[in-house]
Amino acid sequence: MSDAKRIAVIPGDGIGPEVIREAVKAVRAAAAVTGARLDFTEFDWGADKYLREGVTLPPGALQMLSEDFDAILFGAVGDPRVPDNRHAAEILLALRFKLDLYVNLRPARLLDRRLCPLRDATEADVNFTVIRENTEGLYAGMGGCFKKDTPDEIATQEDINTRKGVERVIRYAFEYAARHGASGVCMADKANVLTYGHGLWQRVFKVVSAEYSGIAARHLYADTLAMEMVLRPAQFEVIVTCNMFGDLLTDLAAALEGGLGMVASGNIRPGSTTERGIGLFEPVHGSAPPLAGKNVANPIGAIRTAALMLEHLGLAEAARLIDVAVLASVRERCTTADIGGTLGTKEAGDWIASHIIPIRSHTSH
Ligand code: NAD
Ligand code: IPM
Ligand code: MN
Repeated sequence: MSDAKRIAVIPGDGIGPEVIREAVKAVRAAAAVTGARLDFTEFDWGADKYLREGVTLPPGALQMLSEDFDAILFGAVGDPRVPDNRHAAEILLALRFKLDLYVNLRPARLLDRRLCPLRDATEADVNFTVIRENTEGLYAGMGGCFKKDTPDEIATQEDINTRKGVERVIRYAFEYAARHGASGVCMADKANVLTYGHGLWQRVFKVVSAEYSGIAARHLYADTLAMEMVLRPAQFEVIVTCNMFGDLLTDLAAALEGGLGMVASGNIRPGSTTERGIGLFEPVHGSAPPLAGKNVANPIGAIRTAALMLEHLGLAEAARLIDVAVLASVRERCTTADIGGTLGTKEAGDWIASHIIPIRSHTSH
């Protein structure tokens, strides 16, 4: 019998395989230092397979992933040879939806003030978490075209907000805030315009926040939130929002941290350990086709993603050692060029892996 954590690795398209290779390298290094046992199984799902065999997510994939694995480490999907990105929707969005991974957890932590485009911002100023609803909203794929390809064409895309879906993600935001000692949760919507869908968010937020008297509940319209994230990011600790706004706001958050190459995300289904489903962990960035195959992509987003995965699997020490090594690489500029270094993807990954070492003095808690 093995108690090893089983990781399904889906490198995907473009820079996905390059950055995931470095993330796996970091995880192996952290496992070697901490004694954690991990098994990796790689799946070749992505544009090449789709173009070759017409297969996106193979039959039985969802059941196999949830029965045989503890987590999924995912690179990115998206390829210019598939203009409608059909395979991306059938792989990534299907995994998010069909595994019911209703929280998209996107931490925003500035590692070095040098990387922040805001004048005078410090590391303490960009230190918040965006909790993005991940299974409904405008991503539900409901809608259609009428009189397609005629001058009278009508296209609709429906914004699906269910009470259950809204409530569970807002509740998670408060639970997350409580667990991490955050003093407030900010909910962002456009209830002033989307009176039905986001009116529901407002009503549910009021009810759920009343159960958490120790945590300040605050609301901002999403457009104002975007502005405030740039002007005064330090005011935010936990932000909860819908699928679409969460997508946009987390690219903005990435910019505050030094760019898309820096940031991690986890698609999760929270709950107690027994009822918790498999999580899918992926960098926030995409397949960046112009960078693919050139050994220039920043692997830090993928490596921090791997650390988030380890934390989720209960391997907090391994996660911490990776984060420490990443921070050192940034401080010493042993990184790729997008954040001021001179190393390639592989060399930056090697540097980080070789700095995943036991930490002698544990002064905290
Ligand atoms: P992208 O994130 O792939 O790239 C945008 C730009 O960000 C790049 O051109 C590059 O300048 C920078 N960048 C991104 N990752 C980087 C890294 N690791 N290191 C250095 N710089 C990096 O977004 P896009 O160009 O809008 O999308 C490309 C494809 O990826 C599309 O098909 C899109 O649908 C897909 N996509 C997939 C995911 C995912 O699988 N999770 C996420 C976003 C986009
Ligand atoms: C992300 C991406 C995806 C999204 C795309 C690739 C479907 O942009 O993970 O942020 O919109 O959620
Ligand atoms: Mn996005």
